[in-house]
Amino acid sequence: MTAGSRFSRITGTGSYLPPRQVSNAELAAELATRGIETSDQWIVERTGIQARHFAADGVTASDLALEASRHALESAGRKATEIDLIVVATSTPDMVFPSTATILQNKLGIAGCPAFDLQAVCSGFVYALSVADSMIRTGAASRALVVGSEVFSRILDFNDRTTCVLFGDGAGAVVLEASDTPGILASDLHADGAHRDILCVPGTVAGGKVLGDPLLKMDGPAVFKLAVHVLEASARAALRAAGRSETDIDWLIPHQANIRIMHGTARKLKLPLDKLVATVQTHGNTSAASIPLALDVACKDGRVKRGDTVMLEGVGGGFTWGAVLLDF
Ligand code: ACO
Repeated sequence: MTAGSRFSRITGTGSYLPPRQVSNAELAAELATRGIETSDQWIVERTGIQARHFAADGVTASDLALEASRHALESAGRKATEIDLIVVATSTPDMVFPSTATILQNKLGIAGCPAFDLQAVCSGFVYALSVADSMIRTGAASRALVVGSEVFSRILDFNDRTTCVLFGDGAGAVVLEASDTPGILASDLHADGAHRDILCVPGTVAGGKVLGDPLLKMDGPAVFKLAVHVLEASARAALRAAGRSETDIDWLIPHQANIRIMHGTARKLKLPLDKLVATVQTHGNTSAASIPLALDVACKDGRVKRGDTVMLEGVGGGFTWGAVLLDF
């Protein structure tokens, strides 16, 4: 490959959900024991979510990432020893440090290649994919493992019905390899810290104690309004950068937060809903894991095929947002 003809392409996908699936009815019954009222009907009508998966006590983001990575490596026909870059998007890391990526590297039985976490909340996977693509195109890496993994159940306030019904745990991964044909066609990334308070976990660790609140806070309606607007703008920017139009999109795979946001984005891009990949119904919002989880589901069930044009879009705390357009 000569300079200027080096691109990156996804060669394998994988995902993993912890076995315990919790239906809305089950969650509502659990919340009722705390005197908190919710219902399957409210959750389905407002969000589309019917169930989510929760990891067992002691299971960490690197454990979920390991399973998803093994599946992605198998699907790419690669061994872990062939990987030369690991990027893990997560907001629920195993510990303050070292990074979940280095723990994953060790669990994969490899050493030496660069490994780091990327923190952009629910936009984490599109950020991570864009960073890995840049590193591959410059020659800094040739075969990357890009992972989104979350145990959001650990940071949910189960006394706050406006947030605890929305999120779940899981992981998704892709193998991204150097290629002489593109793959990743264009990325568009943004952030605006002025909106940091509408979605945050405001606590931190200092002096051996948790300072502030370590549980998730969200102004749902404010997030909703911003999300639909920025997702459309970012998708259009990625299309422009790649010289493509909406009609070229075979599959829209947005961050899976709320089916109404996803339908709104598809409508704004004039895409029929059968081009939208939605897994929020059974996964809930798995933050950085949601896009690679949905991509893997759509690859495995035969919807996304080699050569299809796929728009990935993320939006989340920060506020962060972005899109990656790719030929699969
Ligand atoms: N069960 C029953 N009632 C509820 C629940 C619940 N779980 N949660 C809220 N309500 C009530 C509220 O108290 C309110 O009652 P009131 O009218 O008596 O005050 C009523 O339902 C309506 O509340 P709203 O917040 O206005 O409901 P809305 O239609 O906006 O839906 C939701 C809320 C689902 C959170 C929506 O705003 C949303 O999806 N926002 C975007 C969230 C999102 O995408 N987050 C992820 C971003 S990614 C990341 O970075 C983590």
